[in-house]
Amino acid sequence: MPEPLYHAALPAYLDSLVPERNAVMQEMEQRARATNFPIIGTAAGHSLYQITRMIKAKSVFELGSGYGYSTAWFCKAVQENGGGVVHHVVWHEDLSRDARGYLDRMGYSDLVQFHCSEAVEALKSTPGSFDVIFNDIDKIGYPASIPVIKERLNPGGVLMIDNMLWHGRLFDASDHSAESEAIKETTKMLISDPDFITTLLPIRDGVIVAFRK
Ligand SMILES: C[S@@+](CC[C@H](N)C(=O)[O-])C[C@H]1O[C@@H](n2cnc3c(N)ncnc32)[C@H](O)[C@@H]1O
Repeated sequence: MPEPLYHAALPAYLDSLVPERNAVMQEMEQRARATNFPIIGTAAGHSLYQITRMIKAKSVFELGSGYGYSTAWFCKAVQENGGGVVHHVVWHEDLSRDARGYLDRMGYSDLVQFHCSEAVEALKSTPGSFDVIFNDIDKIGYPASIPVIKERLNPGGVLMIDNMLWHGRLFDASDHSAESEAIKETTKMLISDPDFITTLLPIRDGVIVAFRK
């Protein structure tokens, strides 16, 4: 067996491969560093962007959007795909307001629909179906969100979910926290569902990419 590839320098190396972001995205990254806010990060954000471009997605629904960093990656992709809609959903008014500010400064206002509410409820009450759904809500909410998401994801679309390695806690056999159990359950749901082709990308904290056949 070859030695494991993972090295302490890997996350920074992967981030260093991503082309320079615009000034507003850099400001958002700096805010995350300064406040310890859990944005998806540079390399994983770039992978969301790449996959959204690859499937030529026109409609994106995000669950748990924070102040809009992951949203900015989706907006860039959808704009380059010729336009469409990106739904930003977070239940904190201050974060929703901050996201409007950042996304407006990047010229994405026309693409984004903002929902300030619980994310799964927002998905249920928003008409239509989506090419990309991105899930980054509180982890205990993941299992219950999957059937709702599946119903609203277009065939040929992609579901992406962050934190599926949960900072390595999944590998601690004594950790039976609700979050770890929810992440394991969600992973099992997707890998055993014949309607999805699912891979866990070990970028940053682990991003599941599930292609809806
Ligand atoms: C991990 S952070 C979001 C990071 C964002 N996706 C990014 O990468 O820039 C998740 C945010 O969603 C909020 N949130 C968590 N669960 C939620 C839910 N069920 N409905 C709405 N917002 C939720 C959290 O309070 C937090 O502000």
